[in-house]
Amino acid sequence: MKKKVLVTREVFDETVAYLSQHFDVTSNQANVNYGRDEMIGRMQGKDAVVITTSDHIDDAVLSRCPGLKAVCSVGVGFNHIDVEACTRHGVMATHTPGVLTDSVADMAICLTLATVRRLTEGERMVRARQWDGTHLKQLLGHDLHHAQVGICGLGRIGQTIARRLRGFEVELLYTDIVRADGEVEQALGATYLPKDELLQRADIVILILPYTPQTHHYIAAAELAKMKPSAVLINIARGSIVDDAALAQALKARQIWAAGLDVYENEPTVNPALFELDNVVLSPHIASATEPTRQAMAMLAARNCVAALTTGSPPNLLNPEVTGRA
Ligand code: DGY
Repeated sequence: MKKKVLVTREVFDETVAYLSQHFDVTSNQANVNYGRDEMIGRMQGKDAVVITTSDHIDDAVLSRCPGLKAVCSVGVGFNHIDVEACTRHGVMATHTPGVLTDSVADMAICLTLATVRRLTEGERMVRARQWDGTHLKQLLGHDLHHAQVGICGLGRIGQTIARRLRGFEVELLYTDIVRADGEVEQALGATYLPKDELLQRADIVILILPYTPQTHHYIAAAELAKMKPSAVLINIARGSIVDDAALAQALKARQIWAAGLDVYENEPTVNPALFELDNVVLSPHIASATEPTRQAMAMLAARNCVAALTTGSPPNLLNPEVTGRA
């Protein structure tokens, strides 16, 4: 009998076709937003589930799905999965690193430029038919070129952003929990600074850290107070790395100049204070959302799922210590 797999959200037809070569697949191609209980009900009796970063997998979910052997997430960040609980329940957890690095790095540059050049504010003006011609002092922005840019998190994506930024001839600063190798620093032309010093010096701060208990509210009121009044904050990582209420307050008070956000503390809910502000660019968690990248992410999650249920050794396993594999 074929093993049973649930795909919680719409994926590409190719992904479903590939999974269906191996398993009895139920895919939510209608893209219905299942509530937690309905999702658990649908997961029951399945051998594996292919999820998105909006689906939360914790001890309570796993306790109610005793037959589950693998949770395969489409995405690199995995803070929505309690990996330790998966291990305790003998469930393999996988993610999709690598395939989205370039697209997320591109989006970091896109969001940075949109923010420093006030692109969406200008677009709103044009669409509202309020543009009455070019004025010398209209919508004055800041430059990315030759700016001091501080990257918080010099992992795979952070390094790729750094390489993109070299083309803008920026002064590249970075901070991280662990300092990068000298060779990496040299190749990127990146100068390590402790977090507080980076926040004080950078014109533009780009957040690309994983979300962990240690990075919860990594940027809150105290950190915002350290930044320059001309500074720009870009969050392309995870919402809860920033205290959104404190950020809205700092933007309103012009304690910092602007922000560009692709992620939010309580996604998909956005702190309403942010809607009131012109000096924030808001995008809906789309850093990896290009057709080829999302195709590659879904297919990698599917390949992880096939390997998990057939060999018990998926390539992107988050908990190699898990026992009782497929
Ligand atoms: C990731 O892969 O973690 C992205 O944020 C998902 O969209």
